[in-house]
Parts: sequence; structure tokens; C-alpha cells
Amino acid sequence: MRLNIAVLAGDGIGPEIVGQALRVMKAVAGKFGHELHTEEALVGAVAIDATGNPYPDATHELCMRSDAVLFGAIGHPRFDNDPSAKVRPEQGLLAMRKKLGLYANIRPLITFPSLLDKSPLKTDRIEGADFVAIRELTGGLYFGQPQGRSENGNTAYDTCLYTREEVERILKLSFEFARKRRKKLTVVDKANVLATSRLWRQVSKEMEPQYPDVEVEYMFVDNAAMQLIQWPKRFDVMVTENMFGDILTDEASVIAGSLGMLPSASVGVHTSVFEPIHGSYPQAAGKNIANPCATILSAAMLFEYAYNLNEEAALIRKAVEASLEAGAVTEDLTDDKSKALTTSAVGDWIVQYILK
Ligand code: IPM
Ligand code: MN
Repeated sequence: MRLNIAVLAGDGIGPEIVGQALRVMKAVAGKFGHELHTEEALVGAVAIDATGNPYPDATHELCMRSDAVLFGAIGHPRFDNDPSAKVRPEQGLLAMRKKLGLYANIRPLITFPSLLDKSPLKTDRIEGADFVAIRELTGGLYFGQPQGRSENGNTAYDTCLYTREEVERILKLSFEFARKRRKKLTVVDKANVLATSRLWRQVSKEMEPQYPDVEVEYMFVDNAAMQLIQWPKRFDVMVTENMFGDILTDEASVIAGSLGMLPSASVGVHTSVFEPIHGSYPQAAGKNIANPCATILSAAMLFEYAYNLNEEAALIRKAVEASLEAGAVTEDLTDDKSKALTTSAVGDWIVQYILK
């Protein structure tokens, strides 16, 4: 099979982690007889520097004509500390999600046996946790208009806005996801306070009869934040609003042992994007110390979701698990930093496992 992949490495550690994921993809493609074609494009702060636009048209066109996008990270401290910046790297990521119609961000969470002791949570609580958080990605507080400042600058506003159509499509995807798993769906909201949450709940209740085999529960987001680390095994599929999903999944990463382990797939209308859930980690940029596993596991999701190449995906996951078991890990996963491997050495280990 010919695989046409757009590669958007972005900022910070993006190029380093994407570089390792690409090596892994090449190894897998070679092993299974696929022709891997990749083309790179700019996004984020590097795109602002080069073109003034964090998501240039040329990048969008490349994404549109590719089968899938492998994405690194975006963000730069020089913008984080400048609230008056008119153009921000994050706008590139949001524009990409919006223009590609990527309304669902699928964030699976599993625990790896060899990382159980890396979590600050007790092993009996997390062992065997296996759930999928589905984060709505193109609506809610991130995109609702109006957003801005009053003329005197002393009042600021963001709008949480959802249409029935947006809620229906993300819930449909989530019900169907639950159907393929343990058939339990948790709709996370703040329906005791927010009008948008009440719309989500109403629409979900209307849809329930179409999925009699799926058990649905409704949970307030504050409660969900607590239950997630109290007893994560109770969850199968959870679906939630954009910002709730952003926050809950960073929280959930402590179950897996490191934010550097969580991959994601953003799917919707046009080309799907595969991206680690972590950010650009600017403190580590260029140091060859960041954990490449979240991006490598995102590449596994790419094989599975974009091409249905499940054996290829399974081999990548097996290789990552083997590297963890062998202790071939970056410093976020070692107690003794002197035992940590570099980003590229972890990549070497995984590539060699795949090729053998
Ligand atoms: C994520 C990131 C982004 C988000 C940032 C970089 C805009 O945190 O993908 O989770 O908030 O969506
Ligand atoms: Mn996030």
C-alpha cells in the first residue's frame, strides 16, 4: 500500500519526537511492504516566524491531499509570556482542527504493566485501567464567539457554544465507540450550571434508545476529575466538551505513569491528525531527552485508523511495550536519571525490535 503522510513537527520537542515516530513508521512500512511517502510542512511558532501565519495555506493544502497527518507539538514560551501577542502558535493547531473538521479527539488510556510503579497512584487502583476519552475538538469554549476584550480592556469574555448538530455527531461517534468496547458510556458535563451541558444531556437522552445495548451514565466534570484518579477502572468510554476533555486527559496521564505515553487521533470530516496529547515541552527542546512514545503510539493509531492496518499498529504497540519492559526509557520514566536513554536511543531500540 502507498501511504501519503503529511508531517507537521511544529515547535519545541516536536521535531525530535516526530523524527523517532517517522523512523518507526519507516521500519514498519518496510517490514510489511508498504511505500511510505512523507512531506513536511510548517505549523505553530516556526510557521509564524517563516510566514507570519501559524497554519499557512500551503500546510492546509498538504493536509487536505494527504491520507493522514502526523503532528508533533506547538507552542513557544515567548508567546506564553506575552498576552498581547496578536498571532499565537496555538491558533495554528486550532485552525488546523477547525479547517479539517476534526470534531473528535480520541484519547485512549491504558496502563503498562512495567510502568505501574511510575504512577503516584496505588497499583491496585490503576492496574488494568483501560478507557477512551473522547474530547469534542472544534466547539465549546475554545471556539465560541464572541471572544475578546471590552474596549477599555478591563473585561474579557469567552463563549461556550454548542449546536445540536455538533453535540449529536460527537455523541454518535461515542455511542458507536462504546458499542465496540465494554458498552459503557460516561457523558461528562456540568449540567447543574451550564446551558451547553444541558443541551448535551438532552441530546444524549434522546439518542439513548437507539443504543439499547450501551449503558449510559451522566457525571458532573468535577466529580469525574475525582473519580478518574480514585477508581479509573470504572470508565470505558467517556465523552466530553473540548476544554473539559483537555483538562481531564492531562490529569488521566498520571494513571499511565507519564504524559509522554498518551497518543491521540483527531478525526472528523477531512484528513485525520495523529498527535501526542502532551505539548511542546520547551525546556527539553533540542536536548534529545523527551519521551517519543506518545508520538510513536500516535503513529500506531495512524496505521489503524487511517488505513485499517491493524497488524502494523499492533507491532508498534508491542515494540513500545517491550522497550518499557526492557527499561529502555527516557528520563520521565526512570528514578535514576543516569539510567535514562535519550529520545533517539529509545527510537533506536524500538526500530531494532520492529526489524528483528
Ligand atoms: C492539546 C493541547 C492544545 C489544546 C493546546 C496546545 C492548544 O493542550 O492538544 O491538548 O489545548 O487543545
Ligand atoms: Mn492539552
